[in-house]
Amino acid sequence: MQGPYTMRQRLEAARAEERMLLGGHRGNPADHPENTLASFRSAIELGCDMVECDVHLTTDGELAVIHDHTLERTTNGSGLVGAHTLAELRELDAGQGERIPLLEELIELVRDRVGLVIETKQNPIPYPGLEEKLVATLREQGMVEQVSVISFHHLCIRHLKEVAPDVDAGIIDASRPIDPVGMLRAARADLYSSYFGTLDPAMRAELRAAGAAVGVWTVDDDLSLLWTRVCRPDSVFTNRPGEIGPKLN
Ligand code: G3P
Ligand code: CA
Repeated sequence: MQGPYTMRQRLEAARAEERMLLGGHRGNPADHPENTLASFRSAIELGCDMVECDVHLTTDGELAVIHDHTLERTTNGSGLVGAHTLAELRELDAGQGERIPLLEELIELVRDRVGLVIETKQNPIPYPGLEEKLVATLREQGMVEQVSVISFHHLCIRHLKEVAPDVDAGIIDASRPIDPVGMLRAARADLYSSYFGTLDPAMRAELRAAGAAVGVWTVDDDLSLLWTRVCRPDSVFTNRPGEIGPKLN
């Protein structure tokens, strides 16, 4: 589903059609360098409903789209992302001549086309002020309704909801908690983003009954796809949208 839809509308339309939403995890990293504009563009072209990205705060307070806290794995740079200015990061090659995107560039690409899930990378090195900068950016860009913000750092999600209760926000987890709804409530979250293998149908039902949306990551092969079809979350994130997308629903 492409068009100027809010996250809520995407979710409700998919539920009405009994369809799971397809998310490009870091774009389409099967075919392009992860978390680059080429990767996100490809995911959109493949028909993803949403794309997921990872954000860090630069030393000069800008939001850079990259996964790791260090530069070595995905760029020709070295050291901590958070120890560089945006201008320094922009000099680097993020693969195949691509640059590390600024969040605003990604917003321009996805606006009114696909939903954007923004993971704040607050572990292990925290970025004080990241939530405030992110909320200000989303408001300036008029993008609040088209995004979800997620994090493994549940305290940061609670902080985000205190700063901006209208921003859709989710906790990420890779366990099967005794009380998933309690975890969700503790963070004041709207969405529960689970590792695919730790979700189960009872947990999904419990979360849905509590009013939450449920997502899973990363569904890249037949086993994970099989289990995801059993659990039926609202959204499914994959590194292989070209391969998994046609088989999902
Ligand atoms: O969407 C959640 C998922 O992306 C979390 O894991 O390490 O791939 O960012 P990671
Ligand atoms: Ca992520």
